[in-house]
Amino acid sequence: MTKDLKTHRLSTRHLLGIKDLQTEDILHILETAEHFKEIINRPIKKVPSLRDITIANLFFESSTRTRVSFELAEKRLSADVVNFSASASSVSKGETLIDTVNNILAMKVDMVVMRHPSPGAAVFLSNHVDAHIINAGDGTHEHPTQALLDAFSIRRETGTLKGIRVAIVGDIRHSRVALSNIFCLLKLGAEVMVCGPPTLMPKYIGDLGVKVEYSLKKALAWCDVANMLRIQSERQHLAFFPSLREYVMQYGVTRHVLDGLKKRIIVMHPGPINRGVEITSDVADSDQSIILQQVENGVAVRMAVLYLLAARQSM
Ligand code: CP
Repeated sequence: MTKDLKTHRLSTRHLLGIKDLQTEDILHILETAEHFKEIINRPIKKVPSLRDITIANLFFESSTRTRVSFELAEKRLSADVVNFSASASSVSKGETLIDTVNNILAMKVDMVVMRHPSPGAAVFLSNHVDAHIINAGDGTHEHPTQALLDAFSIRRETGTLKGIRVAIVGDIRHSRVALSNIFCLLKLGAEVMVCGPPTLMPKYIGDLGVKVEYSLKKALAWCDVANMLRIQSERQHLAFFPSLREYVMQYGVTRHVLDGLKKRIIVMHPGPINRGVEITSDVADSDQSIILQQVENGVAVRMAVLYLLAARQSM
């Protein structure tokens, strides 16, 4: 890594969300991720940057991409890694979050990556324990590393975020990806529109500085990039639309819909995809889709976050 990267200091010792992150920090994480992207494409992908740092990955909610991506990022930085999943732990015997984490920290852990179903869980933890906390998704609140990797992926495709029009489509109401993306993209100078059924649109979302649109056709005609969100059935305890079939007819992106546009847009999805619901397979697997690039970029972005937070410790 260059001297420049080694001497930069993030303004925060935790990554709890994008809302309170300074634009300069975001830009520095993205620049650092460019270096790690180059490193992880080398034949020897491992660097010693986090040797002697121990990281605990605490997942209280299911995950494929984020969990594997963090673990790979940590191992490529030579950190020692411990993985914890709530279902196989003493949480199921009634242990509190703080007791669980303090017990893990007593074993000399430096950083905690946590996914939790409760909004605010990462902030709560950061107020009660003495390790660096990284929010890997807290309920319907924020998913900061997803927003950073999404911004990184868009910038790699378009060269800039400034003036790029991004439509975030689908279940805005239950989506931590939507909120973190909105904060991140606006800080980086993009224009943001949210699109979905009125029942899945938070009431005051427009106050965040985004356009609100209920017609998929109009949203796609406006945007350069469409970020398609999953319908989060596990968080929907009411009927927010009459049927999945009706949702697909109104908000599903198909090849036919894309071909009807008079331009080529980039299609993104944070995963996991419900194929045939928010997008069809011929869209997900097309050359307009950057879904797997997002996943690849996620490792570099998470390496950058871990590296920069750990650098604060040693300065
Ligand atoms: N995008 C994302 O957070 O996926 P996982 O739930 O699989 O981690």
